[in-house]
This record gives sequence, structure tokens and C-alpha cells, in this order.
Amino acid sequence: MKSHIQSLLEQTIESFKQQGILPADFEARIQVDRTKDKSHGDLATNLAMMLTKAAGKNPRELAQLIIDNLPASAYVAKVEIAGPGFINFFIDDSALANQLQAAIGDAHLGVKLPTPQTVVVDYSSPNLAKEMHVGHLRSTIIGDSVVRTLEFLGHKVIRQNHVGDWGTQFGMLLAYMEELRAANGEQAQLELSDLETFYRAAKLRFDESAEFATRARQLVVELQSGDEYCNKLWREFNDISLSHCHDVYERLGVSLTRADVHGESAYNADLEQVVKDLDAQGLLTQSNGAKVVFQEEFRTKEGESLPVIIQKADGGYLYATTDLAAMRYRSSVLKADRVLYFVDLRQALHFQQVFSLAKLAKFVRDDMSLEHLGFGTMNGEDGRPFKTRTGGVVKLVDLLDEANSRALELVRSKNPDMDEATLAEIARVVGISAVKYADLSKNRTSDYIFSFEQMLSFEGNTAPYLLYAYTRVAGIFKRATDVDLSQAKIVLDHEKEKDLGNKLAQFGEILSRVIDKGQPHVLCGYLYELAGAFSSFYEACPVLAADNDEQKHSRLLLSQLTASTLQKGLNLLGIETLERM
Ligand code: ARG
Repeated sequence: MKSHIQSLLEQTIESFKQQGILPADFEARIQVDRTKDKSHGDLATNLAMMLTKAAGKNPRELAQLIIDNLPASAYVAKVEIAGPGFINFFIDDSALANQLQAAIGDAHLGVKLPTPQTVVVDYSSPNLAKEMHVGHLRSTIIGDSVVRTLEFLGHKVIRQNHVGDWGTQFGMLLAYMEELRAANGEQAQLELSDLETFYRAAKLRFDESAEFATRARQLVVELQSGDEYCNKLWREFNDISLSHCHDVYERLGVSLTRADVHGESAYNADLEQVVKDLDAQGLLTQSNGAKVVFQEEFRTKEGESLPVIIQKADGGYLYATTDLAAMRYRSSVLKADRVLYFVDLRQALHFQQVFSLAKLAKFVRDDMSLEHLGFGTMNGEDGRPFKTRTGGVVKLVDLLDEANSRALELVRSKNPDMDEATLAEIARVVGISAVKYADLSKNRTSDYIFSFEQMLSFEGNTAPYLLYAYTRVAGIFKRATDVDLSQAKIVLDHEKEKDLGNKLAQFGEILSRVIDKGQPHVLCGYLYELAGAFSSFYEACPVLAADNDEQKHSRLLLSQLTASTLQKGLNLLGIETLERM
């Protein structure tokens, strides 16, 4: 609906240009919004106000002119001018009903598909040789939901799990491996089964011994220059570590596979060239033996310049070097139109710097859009970064285990007579969904407080509430098995039917916001409102006990579209639905 009104207004602008009311090269930004108050119609635009300067007329006069030039449309029942020059559109109920009717049975639920683009999505991207911790949860979950939505809307998505498999931490781990082998021979291998402990022990050595630290740095350089011994050890680390990650993905229902892993090491062969190319363009400066790039616009508040370090004095490459190579690859080989980075907001400066450098050095096409879609920190109930009781990093697996056992208690208390296997399966879905939904429903850029109680509540904008709402809608059809809806038609009579219909018609608009700005919380908010609109409808409008068959069938169709929309919406968030809970 919104895009329909938008296109009517675009046509109006074109005719203004032809009539000389607006200059021919005028570029209008047309904004159409849903109204809050139904007495102002369903949709509104401030376009008249936006045109006053270019047209040299007052807004109310322009609003009238827009209305006079608006192409006729069956969807628009009435148009009104309000206040200083807003234009309010009242949508025609039968046109809305037709739109909903068409959405039923359509694979895309009537959502209009945009022009397909190639979108590279860089997400999850944990540092290997450590187990995944809660910090990786946000990137993984938010990224995966945007990926699913992009694919649903017909875009070509290339997932890139840019794992940290090439940094200085590998020197430390290899050095520790070496030390253990010298002390106890090949059995040191065994210690690798618990990466977390292994990592901590290596870090301890690194911090306590300068000699060890030097050896670690040296090994990084050897690894990066292709030394066979180092590389073999390195592959072993990665293999174990990646299989940990994929266990977590599978449990979370995240769509990343091994084939999507394209980590820092994948760019190793290009790093030397990155340095040469920057140098050839005169962009490199020596600073204490390191090669760096100064860009005028990046300075501290005190005015000190903030360089990007490209190569350290010992020859080692850095995070930024790899990212430059990765951008080049995504532009020239993957031919991305957009590259989305779901990475902690604390890396914002890094991305601003490397994006601007990549453009400056012409490593990427001008028309490729680079977008850091950062997220805030997940805090504990004390408002500080999430830690275990003893102050350690919370492992993702432990967190999911706890969510699962709490969900099991919850589901058991609601269904005392349910058998164990069914309980366990429902609890698995509720537990994982609760964790995912709690994260997805928060504004991406804010910090949020992780709370099991809140996420497992049946009240408010939570996974249990929505999963339950879905079972209620789906439940209607269990009681209406003998109804043939093939000839049924949607009719919107009752106020609550119209409200529900209006909500349902917004699904497409919501999805474009999810992919344009990388904001799944918009979809969560929408599904919550949709569930609410359905509840109000269901209370006011008997479905199975409707006045007559036509009404009953129409209401069943509305229920059916609600069920499909809730299910598809949850599915785009990476959440499975349940038939009962
Ligand atoms: N491995 C990094 C970290 O854990 C995130 C990498 C994000 N992607 C990128 N292209 N820099 O902080």
C-alpha cells in the first residue's frame, strides 16, 4: 500500500515537471508514513511541505495541487489536506481486502520483491582457537536474520564468516604447543580438546614471559610466510575450533555452513600486494618502522592523527590489512552491491577508517555500499558486560544449556501431564527462541540487559508470547477441518477486521526496513503488534461461531493469513514455530 501511494506521488511529481510547476531536474524525496490516529486516514505524506521552496508556493496550495494531479487509484477511497499541508490517504476497504486475498497462497505472502542485488554479509566471525562466547551471539543472530530476510526478498546473499584465524593469538598458541611438546612429547596434542583451557594457559605464559612473547610473535611471522610446520599445527587448531562453532550454529538454528567460512587467512596471499598498491599510490608513511596510512579526517579530540597500521615493523600484517584485502575481493570477485558488517559498535572507528581508505585507494567500486551495522553490548543484570559469577567470560554453550533447562521447567509447569519427549522438544524450541528473540527485539545499536526471566515471560514482546500466539491462531484450523475455503472471500466489515487487515498488509514494508537498515527489531515489534491485533479481532469477532458462512469463511481467511505471516516472520528471525506448547 505504502509503495503504491509512493508511486502515485512519483507520477504526480513527474507531471509537475512537465507542467513547469517544478524544475525538470528536481529530485524529490517522497516520504509516506502510517498514521497513528485513524481519523487522519491510513497513510500520510509531508510532500507538499518539501516542495514549497522548489515550487515557490505555499504548502496548502501545493497540497491541493498534488491532490488535483494525483492519478486515479482503486486503493484510495479519500484524500484530505490536514494542518499546515499534510496529505492524508484513506485506503479503500475492498481494495485492501483484495490485496489480502491475493497474499493468501502466494509464496511471498503478497510481498512485492525489489530488484535483486548481490549482498555480502559478514557475520558471526569469531576468533578461532577460543570457544565462542556471548559476544558472538549478537552478530550471529542478527546477521542470520537479515540474511534470511534478504534471501526471502530475492536477493543473492553471500555469507562470509570472517573468522579470526590469522592474528597474533596464533603465535601464542603455537609457541605454547611447542613448549608443551618439548616438555612432554606428542601427548601435548590431547590438551587441545579443551581450547578454552589451552588458550588461557598460553595467554598466561605470554603475559609472564617476555621470551615466550617474542617467540610467539616470531611464529606469527613464520606462519604468515607459509612455514610448513607452523601451518600444519595451525590447521589442527582451526579444525577443532571450527567444529565447536558449527555445533553452536546448529543448535542455534543458524544458517552458516563450513562453506561460508572465509576467514582472515584466506587473504594472506594478497596482503603483500595491498601494501605495494598503497605504496604505489603514495599513501604509506613510515612510523617507528611500521607502515601506516594517515587520513586527514581521522583525529582524536585533541587533534592527534589516528593512522591505520598496515604492516608492523617486524613484517606482521594487521586486522586492517586483511579487511582491505577482503573488501577488494568482495568488490572485484564477489561483485557485491552491498557489504554488510555485523560487528560490535566498539569497532566503529576501525570500519570508518578502512572503508574510507578502501575507497581512497580504489580497492572497491564506487557503487559498492559498505555498511557497518554495529551492535551494542549485552550486559548482565548489574548493567555491566555479561560475565559468569566468578567474573569469567560466559561460554555460549553454557548459556544455551541454562536457557533450555529454564524453558523445560516453564513448559512442564504449564503442562503437568505431558510426556518427557514432547516436553523436551518444546523446551528446546522455547529456550533457543527466547535467547534469540530477546536479542533480536532490542534496537541493534543499544546495549541491553540479558535476563532469563524477562526473555522467558509469557507477557510482553517475547518469544513465548509469540510462539503461544501462533499456536492459538493455528489451533483454530484444528477445529475447522471440514471447511472448504477455496471459494471464500475476505470482506472487511468490523473495525477489528479492518485493523487486522491493515496490519497484515504492512508485512512487506516492514521487511524492507529490516534489510535496508539491518534492523530485525522492527520485524519483532511488528509481529508483536500483529499478534495483538489478532487477539482484539478474535475477541470481538467470533470466527467459528460467526453469523453466517460468508463471514465465517472470511474470518478464517484472515486467521489463515495471520498464521502464515506470524510463521514466516518468526522464520525470518530464525525461530521455529510450535503447533502446541
Ligand atoms: N573476528 C573479529 C572479532 O571477533 C570480527 C571480524 C568482523 N569482520 C571483519 N571483516 N572485520 O572481533
